[in-house]
Amino acid sequence: MSSALVIVERDGPVAFAKMNRPEKLNALSTELKTELIRVLGELDGDPTVRVIVLTGAGEKAFVAGADISEFSGRTVVDQQKIYQQGTVYDAVDRVSKPIVARIDGYCLGGGLELAMACDIRLASERSTFAQAEINIGVITGGGGSQRLPRLVGLGAAFKLAMTGERIDAKEALRMGLVDEVLPPEALDSRVTELASTIASKSAFALKLTKMALKASARLPLDQGLRYEQSLFTLVMASQDKEEGVRAFTERRKPNWSDR
Ligand code: COA
Repeated sequence: MSSALVIVERDGPVAFAKMNRPEKLNALSTELKTELIRVLGELDGDPTVRVIVLTGAGEKAFVAGADISEFSGRTVVDQQKIYQQGTVYDAVDRVSKPIVARIDGYCLGGGLELAMACDIRLASERSTFAQAEINIGVITGGGGSQRLPRLVGLGAAFKLAMTGERIDAKEALRMGLVDEVLPPEALDSRVTELASTIASKSAFALKLTKMALKASARLPLDQGLRYEQSLFTLVMASQDKEEGVRAFTERRKPNWSDR
């Protein structure tokens, strides 16, 4: 499953997918993106994986953006083809399991878009963030213009996307761009703790939770509320609902069947 460009490591039910181009600050080249799409598909289809953690190799970067060297000479037709083939951002968005971004270092441009496509973002104090596309005369192309305002509000999104300025992890936390900030030496243990907590839940209930929460960004409120009701109705048919309730009454840990 691992390759030179995306290293997969396992810690029980948690799979770590590590983007591995540290000499280029894990900039997203076509090869890296293709590998990541493949790895994410495999991990999502592997029943022994309950949680995915996306991270970058080295101590300098999560991802310092799309590979800028690939923009030069790219045509409109090239770009249309790239989108037709499906993007890595869509691949992250499609993952049905919980996916956590572990961010240590630069999280810029496409790197920020990739992190925003994940469900939860944990960052080290030394991380920095920017929607930096404007600095090279382009715009967000991996979902940034849509996900950034949903996370931080329209005003802050305009500020980040129009200035291209880098902000530190404390500011990112204040804005809601990341969910927790930790000292670098505490990042791994907190990521593992969070991922293990999530992994201990029913995979079926997690899947429905993810479907419901993701729908909140896509549906008008009335439709979203009806959608949640249909998922909640569905969960009444699950074995894990019966087991969870029984375990609670019997004061023991539930044994999930993930159905
Ligand atoms: N695309 C392609 N290569 C990149 C890259 C990117 N987004 N970000 C960094 N690299 C490469 C550098 O070209 C350099 O390669 P080289 O050693 O072959 O010259 C290597 O990664 C190390 O980067 P370097 O710039 O030397 O590190 P630094 O510590 O001096 O600066 C940054 C780090 C992140 C400030 C700087 O690399 C940068 O501004 N990168 C671009 C960030 C960006 O605008 N991303 C959004 C693009 S839309």
